[in-house]
Amino acid sequence: MGEAYEKVLEIASRRGFFWPSFEIYGGIGGFYTYGNLGTRLKRNIEELWREIFVRRHGFYEIEDPIINPSRVFEASGHLTHFREYVLECARCGRIVRADHLIEEQLGIPAQSIDGREVERLVGEGKVRCPNCDAELKAPVTFLTMFQTKIGAKGEEVGYARPEAAQGMFLNFRRCIRQARGALPLGLAQVGKVLRNEIAPRRGLFRLREFTIMEVELFFDPQNPSCPWFDRVKEEEVAILTEEMQERGERKPVRITLGEASSKGLIKAEWQAYFMGVSKEFITMLGIPEERQRFRGHLPEERAHYSVQTFDHEIHLENWGWIEVAGHAYRTDYDLSAHQRHSGVDMTLLRSDGSRFIPHVVEPSFGLDRLVHVALETSFRTMEGRNILAFPRSIAPINISVLPLVAKDGLPEKAREVQRILMDAGLVVEYDERGSIGRRYARSDEAGTPLALTVDYQTLEDGTVTLRDRDSWRQVRQRIDALPPLICRYLKGEIGFSELGIPAGDV
Ligand code: GAP
Repeated sequence: MGEAYEKVLEIASRRGFFWPSFEIYGGIGGFYTYGNLGTRLKRNIEELWREIFVRRHGFYEIEDPIINPSRVFEASGHLTHFREYVLECARCGRIVRADHLIEEQLGIPAQSIDGREVERLVGEGKVRCPNCDAELKAPVTFLTMFQTKIGAKGEEVGYARPEAAQGMFLNFRRCIRQARGALPLGLAQVGKVLRNEIAPRRGLFRLREFTIMEVELFFDPQNPSCPWFDRVKEEEVAILTEEMQERGERKPVRITLGEASSKGLIKAEWQAYFMGVSKEFITMLGIPEERQRFRGHLPEERAHYSVQTFDHEIHLENWGWIEVAGHAYRTDYDLSAHQRHSGVDMTLLRSDGSRFIPHVVEPSFGLDRLVHVALETSFRTMEGRNILAFPRSIAPINISVLPLVAKDGLPEKAREVQRILMDAGLVVEYDERGSIGRRYARSDEAGTPLALTVDYQTLEDGTVTLRDRDSWRQVRQRIDALPPLICRYLKGEIGFSELGIPAGDV
């Protein structure tokens, strides 16, 4: 395991970012609990996503139930397709996910293995039980959705949603009316989804319950251009298309989104647009450009509803490229399916009198994966100390307030300063336990951008020191001037040196 990964998991559980759930009962794979710091970090990332993907575009946000009646997933195709091949050992009974085992034992990438390939490889005895090396039984498929019964008599079978997207399709007719019939229409939803993963692993990366952030963008296929495409079309991205992978190429090309769209590498302009927005968002989380790429899904791995999907992937020291978002062109697949199964008309009318079902492009982010990625990429050490150098906009705590010593009226003064900053809307952590050096170290390890110290001089002239998490430089400033300055600093409008005069010069 890579050092950063190990360290981050250790800090995460010790400092209260996240840890495995149900600990006191021995735990169960695929469920994690967020603590105070993790909850704040997760919310901040969600808010940044909302700002960039929803508010800026004037999209509508909805909140739909997690439990849906089975009819929804019969129509959407999930009951047929949301399945994984599993293999059971004929001797010890161990159950494993077929694609993971084949990748591990034969080195064939999991994403390029379809059902026929699994049957052939198992039939030819090419893979064996990872536990006891015995033969495996014939592969079977396993529905990775959680089933439940709705109501006291259990008369209705329900399923927990594995994606939030269906809520946007089910409520499309209402929402388009509320939007006065106008396309393009963006509907967004953030919420929990559940998947009964066979092999939950890698901490927050493969969970059984996780948070998804999705936009479904509805447009007229006869008018497929995105009005905001100019904003991103000069943006260069690294792309590894489906065709390149089929030719055995492994190195992505760097190309502008405008060119990728005009050459047809990306089928829908809206998809290319959201890939540009996605790059902006991920970069704002502190992930450098060279660790990002878009990889096209191979036909075997593409979801049943998609004609083209690009995963936004991030390179991590430990695991190589990992997916944090999927950009899918879902066409009219879902609305047509719900129209067929419900009998409800999903068409819209064009000005020339023709009727059509809108097409859909979907950017879909896994929030928990972003939490991990933000933690791991922000981790560094300085003089042997751990620092989580989060971008200021997502740091869980804005500022630590520290009395130099816990006596002589300094704690009381520090509490006053804490109140002033809290009243200004800041998230403040007060800490008076241990030496000032240890408290700075605790603050840096929590990723808090600023530490404020109340000392004896504060009692004389009403000034405090502010310390920068990343450089450990210090400046001095008057308490009454702090709230607006710190707010501007956190928004990135001013730099650290503009927060005051160097502490040594006072
Ligand atoms: N509506 C499209 C959809 O659900 P997906 O690729 O299956 O697409 C979207 O999921 C995102 O959710 C992924 O890009 C990934 O970031 C995240 N994700 C998927 N499965 C996950 C799991 N088991 N645990 C944590 N995050 C997961």
